[in-house]
Amino acid sequence: MLTQRIDVQLEKRSYPIYIGADLVSHFATACQDHGIPTQCVLVTDKHVAPLYARQLLNELQRHGFEPTLIIIPAGEYQKCLRRTNALYTELLERGISRKSVLIALGGGVIGDLVGFVAATYQRGVQLIHVPTTLLAQVDSSIGGKVGINHPLGKNMIGAFYQPRFVWQDVSYLSTLPPRELLCGIGEVVKYGIIRDAELFAFLESHMPSLLRYSREELLYAQSRCARIKAQVVSEDEYEQGVRVILNCGHTLGHALELAGKFKVLKHGEAVLLGLIGESYIAMQLGILDEHSFHRIVELIRSLPLKFKQTNLAMKEVFPAIRRDKKKVGKSVRYVLPQRIGTTVVINDVDDTLVREALRYVFSLFR
Ligand code: NAD
Ligand code: GLY
Repeated sequence: MLTQRIDVQLEKRSYPIYIGADLVSHFATACQDHGIPTQCVLVTDKHVAPLYARQLLNELQRHGFEPTLIIIPAGEYQKCLRRTNALYTELLERGISRKSVLIALGGGVIGDLVGFVAATYQRGVQLIHVPTTLLAQVDSSIGGKVGINHPLGKNMIGAFYQPRFVWQDVSYLSTLPPRELLCGIGEVVKYGIIRDAELFAFLESHMPSLLRYSREELLYAQSRCARIKAQVVSEDEYEQGVRVILNCGHTLGHALELAGKFKVLKHGEAVLLGLIGESYIAMQLGILDEHSFHRIVELIRSLPLKFKQTNLAMKEVFPAIRRDKKKVGKSVRYVLPQRIGTTVVINDVDDTLVREALRYVFSLFR
């Protein structure tokens, strides 16, 4: 059942995000409504393929499309030039023309990789995102950031490339491993902090249901977040202004992720820790009141985060901050919560305070 349609407004490149449950039988008609070419390539990974690829292929075939399927291994390491090149080769060998569409069925890795291939294969073919993780649904499938990693940095090669539409089916989340669900919740908490006090309050009272994969609560969170992301991207597609707010929690989060060489913490987990650290900084600077700070810490501490401070060397985190992609000149940019629902951007925070914030975060996970 389709419950919502939210539009990303980008003039000629505008597109809808469809949200609902058990949507598979509507997918092909949505493709027809959007005039999607009949030649389509479904790209997914080894975990998602046995769960969801066949249903989509059958639907497409039943409606006269000519889909082919490409399955790649799962994991962040697939976001690389080698895999990109292998996909180009596969598309060329199968005779995939410019008048075709790539359908990215999977989490953020598949979305970023297939999106990048779609943006560049024969100077661009159409793209549909069918995100299957909570993180991909609330964040990476919306807004057009696509790309791959370079050995010297994550997401260092990429483009802005908007899809024809985003297909968010909450039913996919039922098979998501708990740790992946938690990662998505990390981004959902971020949306509450940056733009939606009501969502934050909802999370305070409904977190146990979300952690139990309750569809109703997940759908609610999904649509609140998608609405915020759509608004932000519609205002600032290329991150020249307001879109930076989506990086709240990410300056410290990325540094923690990098310090653990992407093995200790997953992105959403690192964002949760980053949100605590950056809220601490905001409170110490007198930007965030103590009550709101404690609400943020309490909410995040109520989550089943497995992180142990002993898994990360504090001395690795600090240099990682200096390598941040969000640097403006020599200063490191922080998006700090001002109160729940609004943020302020600060360029550079005193090193002593950053260290203190990290120590505070670590003290919570002994
Ligand atoms: P992921 O794509 O690696 O998926 C996590 C795991 O869950 C994988 O093993 C996958 O096979 C599996 N999986 C996916 N859906 C499943 C389902 N329904 N049931 C069972 N298993 C399932 O991870 P992710 O957290 O979705 O995405 C992380 C990536 O997203 C990172 O590369 C990050 O850089 C990127 N990202 C991009 C943006 C953007 O704006 N483009 C934003 C945030 C994150
Ligand atoms: N995930 C941050 C952005 O899309 O801008």
